[in-house]
Amino acid sequence: MGKTIIISNRLPVQLQISEGGIVATPSVGGLATGMKSIHNSGESLWIGWSGLTDEETPEELNDAINIALEKHNCSKVNLSQEEMEGYYFGFSNRTIWPLFHYFMEYTEFELDFWESYKSVNQKFADAILENSDEDDIIWVHDYQLMLVPQMIKEKRPNAVIGFFLHIPFPSYEIFRTIPWREELLSGLLGADLIGFHTYDYERHFLSSVRRLLGLEVSFNDINIGNRVVKVDSFPMGIDYKKFRDAAIAHNALAPENRSVLQKRLDDHKISAPDTKLILSIDRLDYSKGIAKRISAFEYFLNKYPEYKEKVRLVILAVPSRSNVPQYQLLKKEIDELVGRLNGELSTVNWTPIWYFYRSMPFKNLIDLYISSDIAWLTPLRDGMNLVAKEYIATRIDKTGVLILSEMAGSAYEMNEALLINPNNFEHQAETLKKAITMPKKEQMARNMFLQKRLERYNVEVWAQEFMTALKNQIENNEAFV
Ligand code: UDP
Ligand code: G6P
Repeated sequence: MGKTIIISNRLPVQLQISEGGIVATPSVGGLATGMKSIHNSGESLWIGWSGLTDEETPEELNDAINIALEKHNCSKVNLSQEEMEGYYFGFSNRTIWPLFHYFMEYTEFELDFWESYKSVNQKFADAILENSDEDDIIWVHDYQLMLVPQMIKEKRPNAVIGFFLHIPFPSYEIFRTIPWREELLSGLLGADLIGFHTYDYERHFLSSVRRLLGLEVSFNDINIGNRVVKVDSFPMGIDYKKFRDAAIAHNALAPENRSVLQKRLDDHKISAPDTKLILSIDRLDYSKGIAKRISAFEYFLNKYPEYKEKVRLVILAVPSRSNVPQYQLLKKEIDELVGRLNGELSTVNWTPIWYFYRSMPFKNLIDLYISSDIAWLTPLRDGMNLVAKEYIATRIDKTGVLILSEMAGSAYEMNEALLINPNNFEHQAETLKKAITMPKKEQMARNMFLQKRLERYNVEVWAQEFMTALKNQIENNEAFV
């Protein structure tokens, strides 16, 4: 086998053109942060969008851009503003994303979006064929590129293709509403192995394949003529060592060398030693349940007023897809909710919510994870949620409480966390109280199990298991022919 080619819409770095030249910043999101560790540790080429549209790319900078990407072993697919509108903001994020996260009311079925999605998927497939050798392993990622596997297989029937979906696959009843549902399934079935985070997503996919395409499915094998497509679940892990080592290094820092954010957090601890910090980190996305979380926090403070001035909620909301109307509306809603709650409940000594709307560099994420007594993550739907795993990995002394929505894929592997239904405010208020008062011994006992599991099933093991399954599948298919 040759090298591995990773394909995703977003590359691990995003390029911007500034006065000083081309600047590469790390991409945000679970796909990029997780796959980056795999990419950095091996010999792979990553193909994707650079972050710059054609219109933003001056001709004379093209070579410099390619060189900047080569430094990261990346190669770009050029996309115009119009393609971004139809394929990315349109079909990917106004059709598939809301539907696959069970937000039917936000889902738009636009023929133009679909046409754009098809033609951009073809662009990615062409870029892969151009940049890869016959014996390379092709690993396609996520919902923006579901047609790519079939497009490659058509041109190169012997290509070895894996596909991994980083978001939920919805139940058949939801999936069947898409006008182009058969095409999407057939697109995916160009792969030899299709991976999901959880068994439920896998089951939903198999059920759609059986009912919509009428294909024979036995266990997790789909028979298509002379080929078998394997479907399996691979819950994605994190780069455990990276987070743990960063936390250890952070703790070893002399106070004067700490970041400005950390100094502020330290000051807070000193001035209000009994106050608990509750942390939430998400992209600003309706699937993450941020607005509901703020309302649940208000409910909690009203139900247990004795905790006023004793808790502070730190919200880091990372800007995301801000061209999509639903995201703009959500931003406004959250601004208003935070403003209203802080306005109503703040005292001279206390602001209930610290709200950051920005992305933070890695070292500041570590500052936040380390300094927070509780992580409170309440997605309404989430394919996995790596933030939950990252928080636990940084808890060197094993203290800290994770409150996690049962609607997140990671909840399946994190039973020792306090699992909640984000729609149940009553239970969330009780759970917050339980988290605030949980004895250290219990915190440590819970986190010991969580950490062991996260260390064992880290992102490298996840990638290895996927690759091994893909190679086995190819061998099985060869034996079958
Ligand atoms: N993250 C980041 N910068 C930030 C905030 C978060 O790079 O300012 C990372 C975070 O460490 C995590 C990822 O973004 O690895 C979010 O992944 P998750 O699976 O929780 O959610 P997604 O954004 O993929 O839906
Ligand atoms: C999720 C998706 C990724 C996506 C990321 C950030 O993790 O599964 O495919 O890259 O969100 O979203 P964005 O639209 O900014 O790439």
